[in-house]
Amino acid sequence: MQQEKGKPLPGPRGLPLLGNILDLGEAPHVDLAQLAQKYGNVYQIRIGSRPIVVLNGVDTIRQALVRQSIDFAGRPDFTSFEIMREILGGTMTFSNYSAGWKLHRKLAESTMRHFASGRQAPTVEVKVTEEVQYLVDHWSNNNQGEENVIEPSKTLKLSVSNIMCSFILGTRHELDDPRLIEFLEMSDDFSTAAGAGNPVDFMPWLRYLPNRTLQNLRRVLGNFKDWFGASIDEHNQHYEDGSERDILDFLITTSNRRDPEELERLNLTREILQSTVYDLFGAGFDTVSSTLHWALLHLILHPDIQKQMQDEIDEVVGRDKLPHLSDRGNLPLTEAFILEVLRYSSVIPFTIPHSTTRDTILCEYFIPKDTVVFVNLYSANHDTTKWEKPDEFNPRRFLIADGSKIDPTKTESFLPFSAGRRRCLGSEIARMELFLYISSMVQQCTFKVADGEPPSTKPVYGLTTHPIPFNMKITRRV
Ligand code: HEM
Repeated sequence: MQQEKGKPLPGPRGLPLLGNILDLGEAPHVDLAQLAQKYGNVYQIRIGSRPIVVLNGVDTIRQALVRQSIDFAGRPDFTSFEIMREILGGTMTFSNYSAGWKLHRKLAESTMRHFASGRQAPTVEVKVTEEVQYLVDHWSNNNQGEENVIEPSKTLKLSVSNIMCSFILGTRHELDDPRLIEFLEMSDDFSTAAGAGNPVDFMPWLRYLPNRTLQNLRRVLGNFKDWFGASIDEHNQHYEDGSERDILDFLITTSNRRDPEELERLNLTREILQSTVYDLFGAGFDTVSSTLHWALLHLILHPDIQKQMQDEIDEVVGRDKLPHLSDRGNLPLTEAFILEVLRYSSVIPFTIPHSTTRDTILCEYFIPKDTVVFVNLYSANHDTTKWEKPDEFNPRRFLIADGSKIDPTKTESFLPFSAGRRRCLGSEIARMELFLYISSMVQQCTFKVADGEPPSTKPVYGLTTHPIPFNMKITRRV
C-alpha cells in the first residue's frame, strides 16, 4: 500500500532505544549534511523512539517548504513546545498549523509589514542608528583616534535587546540599567535551558520521570513572563484605540479591526495575541546579536575587506552623516558582506522543527502525517554544488563579475530566514538592523585583532551559533 503512495525513506540504521543519537556529534547539522551524501537530500533518522525526516539542500528544502508549503507547515507535539504554550499563555512560533494559527500568523505578518515599511521605516532607522551611536560611544569611550580593547558580546546583546524593547514595547534602557541586564541573564538562561534540545521531546515517556531540564525550562519561562508581564500591563494602560506607538500597538489595533466573533471562534484571546511579544523577543534578539558578533569577527579577520567597505561607505555616504536604508542599493560590498556572514556562519543551522500536516510525498518518498521534520539550512549554505569553496569566507561571491551589484542568482541559493508558511516573521526588520548596525560601525570605527592569536571561527552551539567571545581593538574614525 505504502509502495503505491511513494517509496519508503532511506536512512541509517539506529540502535534500539537510542536510535541514531550516537551518529550526531556537537555539530549535528554538519553530521546530517554528511549523511545526505550517502542517503540523498531526504532521509530518515530516529532519535529515541521518534522517526525524523531530514531535509537537505536548497532545492529540496524549497520544494517542501514552498511548493508543498501546507504539507510541511506544522510544528511537532513536543513536550517542551506544550510547556511554552502553557506558561506563556500561547505562542505562535511553537503552535501547530490550524485555522487559529493561520489567523494569528496573518495578523502578526501584517503588523510586521506595516512596522517595517513606508511611514514607519524612518522610525526604525532613527531608533537603530541612535542605538548604534550609544554602542560605538560606549565601546570607544569617546576616544577619538585612540585604541581601546573590548570584548563586544555582552554590550552587543544589550544593544540589540534595547532595539527589540523599543520596537515591540516602545521602551528604552541605558546599557547599564539593571532591568536590561536582568533580561540578558534570563535570555542566557533560556538558551541553556532550550538550546541543547530536550530528550523528553524524543522519548515522551521521560515526562513521567523527574526531569531537571524541564524544571529549568518552566522556571526560565516563568521569569520571562514576569519580566514582560509588568511592561505589557503598563503598555496596555496607555493604549488608545488606533494607537500605533510600537509593534504591540499595531498588533492590538490590527486585531481590533477583525470580527470579534471570528477571533472568539478561533480562540484568539487578547492573552494569546499578546504572547506574540514573546515570539518576537525569543526569535529576534539572539539571532541578530549573534549575526553581528560574527560580523565583527569577520571584520577583524579580514582587514582588507573591512578597508574596502570603509572606502565604499566613505565614497557613497561620506563621513558627515550616518548611512541610511536608502543607501543599501549603493553599497554592494557592504550588502554582500552581510549576506556572506549569514551564509558562512549559519546562525540558525536548522529551522525550528517542522512537522507534516498530512500524508505527503516528497521527491518520491512517502512521509506520513505528524512526522517530525528537521530542515537543515546549513546544508544549503555550504552545498558544494551551489557554492565554490563554501568553507571560505568570501563576500564577493554574492556580487556580479564587475562588483557593482548583488547577483540575484546567488541569493536564491540560500535561505537564512527559511521559506514558506513558517518563514521568519522578522526578516525585513532583521535585514534593516544588520545593514544599519554594520554600515554605521564600519563607517565610524576600525576593528582589529587584539594582541595575540587571531580569534577562532569555531562556533559555540546553542539556540543560535555564535563565536567564542574574543577581544578586539577599536579605533574611532569619525
Ligand atoms: C539575523 C536575524 C534572523 C535570522 C537569521 C532569523 C531566522 C529565522 C529562522 C531560520 C526561523 C525558522 C523558520 C522555520 O521554522 O522554518 C525564524 C523564525 C522566526 N523568526 Fe526569525 N530570524 C532573524 C531575526 C528575527 C527578528 C528580528 C524577528 C522579530 C522581530 C524574528 C521573528 C521570527 C519569528 C516570530 C519566527 C517564528 C515564525 C513561525 O513559527 O511562524 N526573527 N527566523
